[in-house]
Amino acid sequence: MPLSFRHLTSTKQLSRADTDVLLQTSAEMEDVLKKGDDDRLKGKILAALFYEPSTRTRLSFESAMLRLGGSVITADGFQFSSMYKGESIEDTIMMAGGYSDIICMRHPEQGSADKAASVSPVPFINAGDGPGQHPTQALLDLYTIQKERGTIDGLHVAMVGDLKYGRTVHSLVFLLGLYKNVRFTFIAPDALPMPDKVTSFLKEKKIPYEETTDLSAGLDADILYMTRVQKERFDNVDEYEKLKLKYVLTAPQLKGKKVTVMHPLPRVGEISTDVDKLPTAAYFRQARNGIPVRMALLAGLLGVI
Ligand code: CP
Repeated sequence: MPLSFRHLTSTKQLSRADTDVLLQTSAEMEDVLKKGDDDRLKGKILAALFYEPSTRTRLSFESAMLRLGGSVITADGFQFSSMYKGESIEDTIMMAGGYSDIICMRHPEQGSADKAASVSPVPFINAGDGPGQHPTQALLDLYTIQKERGTIDGLHVAMVGDLKYGRTVHSLVFLLGLYKNVRFTFIAPDALPMPDKVTSFLKEKKIPYEETTDLSAGLDADILYMTRVQKERFDNVDEYEKLKLKYVLTAPQLKGKKVTVMHPLPRVGEISTDVDKLPTAAYFRQARNGIPVRMALLAGLLGVI
């Protein structure tokens, strides 16, 4: 079944039928990865435009395209692009669309993805727009939750840390809202609460959530989704320094707990390395899931699933 969208800028666009197709296709892509002989995107070019730092998203998009037989062209760093000379996002995207068959872009400005999608002559994917959205991270998070817990319906999901600027949690809440009986606990310092755009969505959909500053409220959830405090979004470094290690998850805190620990990564101290050896520490498996999920999305948007 085809996807219902041509460009992906926000998880709010996705229907349950879309997530069903993408989760199923991602699982099939695991077999493609094992066999290693797929060339369904041979002759197709991905333009990967990254105007903010990235390790996982950029490398996994590139890897996904190459695993399906396609090719990649890249633009790295604002200061090395013509945006530095004043070129608009729209002009940049119209150019990139002439050089490629599909575009992914990370940009520091919230709303940049919508501007790009409004003019893109080829399918466009938001790879993170400032504190806005990170829809492909949310898709790989959803896939990880299904793999780790065997279901998505009925889960209690606790989200911890910088819920104000953390675009991954915004995107994930909208996706989880497509499933039955999911409930949330938002654990954040008073200065970094989940924004109204997310809580008003939950109120409208009558999806239960609670807000607290207490990390222990998440230790008996099904999913404990940790996030880093987003230093790059702060004007005041002292404010960041005060908040950066408000929550640090350690192995002793998880003793006897069954909660699945996730994190979009990079971590910068909020999960102690002693957690890594626990079987419930899913964050490195989560990062790896970015490959089959992005393969599924690229193939879907290019019409070969
Ligand atoms: N999770 C994530 O977006 O990581 P990168 O910033 O390294 O791409």
